[in-house]
Amino acid sequence: MAPSVQSYEALVLENHPVGNYHRLLFQDNGALSKALPGQFINIRVFEGVVPLLRRPFSIARLLPGPKGKHRVEVLYASLRQGTQLLTDKRPGNTIGVLGPLGHPFPHMDKKHPALIVSGGIGVAPMVFLSEYLKKKGVPQEVFLGARTADDLVDLEVFKRLKVPIHITTDDGSKGRHGFVTQELEAYLEAGKAKPGTVIYACGPRPMFRAVSQVGDEFKIPTYLSWEEHMACGLGICLTCVCPVKQESGQTKMVRSCYEGPVFEASTIDWERI
Ligand SMILES: Cc1cc2nc3c(=O)[nH]c(=O)nc-3n(C[C@H](O)[C@H](O)[C@H](O)COP(=O)(O)OP(=O)(O)OC[C@H]3O[C@@H](n4cnc5c(N)ncnc54)[C@H](O)[C@@H]3O)c2cc1C
Ligand code: FES
Repeated sequence: MAPSVQSYEALVLENHPVGNYHRLLFQDNGALSKALPGQFINIRVFEGVVPLLRRPFSIARLLPGPKGKHRVEVLYASLRQGTQLLTDKRPGNTIGVLGPLGHPFPHMDKKHPALIVSGGIGVAPMVFLSEYLKKKGVPQEVFLGARTADDLVDLEVFKRLKVPIHITTDDGSKGRHGFVTQELEAYLEAGKAKPGTVIYACGPRPMFRAVSQVGDEFKIPTYLSWEEHMACGLGICLTCVCPVKQESGQTKMVRSCYEGPVFEASTIDWERI
């Protein structure tokens, strides 16, 4: 375990639906106070034996809390066994938290204006990223895509940050009708990107492919917060490997929990995904 990674029991402060997703707020014990955007945590969702494995979640926000310790926001989709059990947690219950895990997004400095692109619940790490870049004075534009208006969560957070926001929905219920990558492409075609610009993206696989192609077309370094099935989260079990091209030209299966979860899109061997 990396020296800064801790395992602890955290008190649940809030856990409720927001639109089609859920928002969990828990009290950190100080372990995550130095966590950076792109890093994640593993949550034990149930005290019993099944499900044995923890589930990985991005840190969506670090909010000020008592005695300098943060309250941590997690945005999640309730899908199958583990995430459904997580919805049962009530304020006063506890969850097992392991973190911070993985590496943060690269750059995050004024020399690299950011285009933040999310699809659906892929917005989770982007809220943290956007708040962090704002504090550091890094220029940013945010592109939020969702299937429908109820899939757009934490929109008010981006609005409070007063960053330019581009919204698309697949069904046209909010923002532009279409995919978020079309909006990104139109922005870049209009020549609006400043020198040094980088793209940070998180969302479903088809969106990852599309955003990578756009980044490639406009020669803009693109960083993906990769979501792979995980078990240990600590670099031991190899469940989470992803094909990454090396400088030698060979492709190596790389642990996304340990070397990732952020990868530069041009290094992913898409033919092997
Ligand atoms: C680095 C990282 C950050 C993530 N952040 C978020 C987030 O902020 N919000 C959110 O809603 N989801 C996030 N996910 C996806 C989330 O972990 C899965 O949706 C969740 O594990 C599914 O659990 P389940 O019990 O519903 O599904 P099940 O199918 O019952 O899970 C079974 C097993 O598969 C693994 N698994 C299934 N789907 C995924 C997946 N997409 N990624 C990784 N492991 C998976 C589980 O960890 C578990 O070991 C993240 C994934 C990763 C890798
Ligand atoms: S989840 Fe075990 S090595 Fe990555």
